[in-house]
Amino acid sequence: MSDTANSLFDLTLEDARARHRELVRDINRHDRLYHAEDNPEISDADYDVLRRELEQIETRYPALVSDDSPTRKVGTAPAAGFRKVRHSVPMLSLSNVFSEGELTDFIARVRRFLSLEDEACIAIAAEPKIDGLSCSLRYENRTLVMAATRGDGSEGEDITANIRTIADVPQTLPAAAPDILEVRGEIYMRRDDFAALNARQLAAGKPAFANPRNAAAGSVRQLDPSVTAQRPLHFFGYALGESSRPLADTQWEIRQELASYGFAEAEPAALCESAAALMAYYHKVLVDRPDLPYEIDGVVYKVNRRDWQERLGFVSRAPRWATAHKFPAERAVTVLKDIEIQVGRTGALTPVARLEPITVGGVVVSNATLHNEDEIRRKDIRVGDHVVIQRAGDVIPQVIDVLVDKRTGAEKPYIFPDHCPVCGSQAMREEGEAVRRCTGGLVCEAQAIERLKHFVSRNAFDIEGLGDKIIQLFWEKELIRQPADIFHLEERSRTLTPPIAEWEGWGEKSAENLFRSINARRRIAFNRFIYALGIRQIGEATAKKLAGIYGDLDGLTAQMDAAQDRDSDAYQDLLAIEDIGPRVADDLLGFFAEDHNRAVLRDLSAQLDITPYAVPVASGSPVAGKSVVFTGTLVTMGRAEAKARAEALGAKVSGSVSGKTDYVVAGADAGSKLKKAQELGVTILNEEEWRDLAGL
Ligand code: IVH
Repeated sequence: MSDTANSLFDLTLEDARARHRELVRDINRHDRLYHAEDNPEISDADYDVLRRELEQIETRYPALVSDDSPTRKVGTAPAAGFRKVRHSVPMLSLSNVFSEGELTDFIARVRRFLSLEDEACIAIAAEPKIDGLSCSLRYENRTLVMAATRGDGSEGEDITANIRTIADVPQTLPAAAPDILEVRGEIYMRRDDFAALNARQLAAGKPAFANPRNAAAGSVRQLDPSVTAQRPLHFFGYALGESSRPLADTQWEIRQELASYGFAEAEPAALCESAAALMAYYHKVLVDRPDLPYEIDGVVYKVNRRDWQERLGFVSRAPRWATAHKFPAERAVTVLKDIEIQVGRTGALTPVARLEPITVGGVVVSNATLHNEDEIRRKDIRVGDHVVIQRAGDVIPQVIDVLVDKRTGAEKPYIFPDHCPVCGSQAMREEGEAVRRCTGGLVCEAQAIERLKHFVSRNAFDIEGLGDKIIQLFWEKELIRQPADIFHLEERSRTLTPPIAEWEGWGEKSAENLFRSINARRRIAFNRFIYALGIRQIGEATAKKLAGIYGDLDGLTAQMDAAQDRDSDAYQDLLAIEDIGPRVADDLLGFFAEDHNRAVLRDLSAQLDITPYAVPVASGSPVAGKSVVFTGTLVTMGRAEAKARAEALGAKVSGSVSGKTDYVVAGADAGSKLKKAQELGVTILNEEEWRDLAGL
């Protein structure tokens, strides 16, 4: 090697440039062959020779270091992030139960939904709930073609190259597997591997990871697969996404089938036929938990029959056929040093406890929420008190109790402010509300900053590299004050002295990356756009409904203008949307009534390409777009199931019959709605006719 090194000094800049270009191209190709295609052409030793030569050229001629040089990639921040991918079947999360009572309710709901007799046995498969990150693996013709994170459930990130480095993930499936198969499961890190990784991190002067889940997530989200390859990751398969043919009739058999394809399955698992048997399983796992090699935060129950799973479907983001039974939260005692007030994006004043840092369940906690002023009063929480902190999973730690016996008399009662600590405006509590809110609105800096943070957050515009601290920084520099300013940043930066790239801690590369990730979001789905506006009470689910119903920004604005008149049809249409009652409508209409908000919308729409929200509906169904009313008692399914299945086919289910109703489905003992349908001449179907029409 020293030969090469010496001869380098004889190379002219031109020759060095040519050789550098060659090396960059070759090494990048070998990286891809090795990590992404699992098909290396050269030995590791030969690869190292190429890399060393490249490093030497770059040391000799730093000007040659290019963006695409492999030496730039290791350990650097993601360039423009990962490619987005749409899930062919949404990736769901799980509802929770915390007690035997809630478990019994879960089973009763399943029974009711399926219209099962009280005696009918509902078999349920149970397995540990792994504390990792979920991933969907897509196999086409038994070859792994794609791995994606869950993301927001409908769209995740393409992490294929990284996942290929995990030994537990089969690259190919045996001949018995279907042509198309998506396996969903959890990527996780074992406890011992996690401890060793953290030791290595600290030895290298890098920060330690908070817990195995963060370590796993951080490892998967590396832009350079060779970093992921060095991290000890594992995978458990636990559910299916798309599959070209059914794998099995039951969840239990799916587990076995997946195991036979080479997937690891979480143990212990059990097939139970009663709440009592599930509780016995739960207690056993709780006791075994400390001895398991990986972290779990509960157990998952899944209705065993696949045909029932299909009928049960899902509500909002979670299946009706599965639920997680979470383990109790972990607790610890510490001293409350101070109470600070945070002002949220809607002006809510939230008291936060600053704590003497303490480890609760393996995580260091130094802040906890105190909810609201009544809570502080009810628990008589004083500054200086010893308090009990509780932490459960990802939920923000809470102060759940005060140890009054430990008081010395030096503790200070807390007086909740009646003015906003940030802008000084009055903070008021509305009748019947627990929350005190800053009335500063537009003048309150805290609210404005929080709104911006929400705007760029993961489920809104999801602008990578524009985290809380950076938003705060740009606010202070007066570069970002309104959402649209984000999209002017690159242009503004050109007129700045010094430009952002020359700010302390920045550089050409980081500024460019930021502009690139901002530009990548100029195209945005309408539902995300609505959610990003941060209108009070308009969460993701409601944003999707609004986007689906009103179509585009012009349509929405026009209808909201019309609905300002509470006697209008537009207002009635708004209230007819599920989840929108008069209070939510007030907040929504209040937003559109503000000139300032209209200006924000105008500025944004000039910068953005807002695409329609693709309502996930089975198109081509004969009942899609039809308005249906169910009345009377149905035999083959409960009312909730009838409604859910009709909606899944794209029908609109309404509670009352009108001239706009397309079908009334009448079960036994149908009364006034049936009569009204007859009067109006609406098509009336019995249950069987409805099932035939809908193809159920
Ligand atoms: S089943 C449609 N099984 O927990 C049902 N999920 O809190 C899909 N998880 O998103 C989930 N272990 O990432 C299932 N044995 C297990 C699991 C599990 C961990 C995760 C999964 C899910 C999250 C919900």
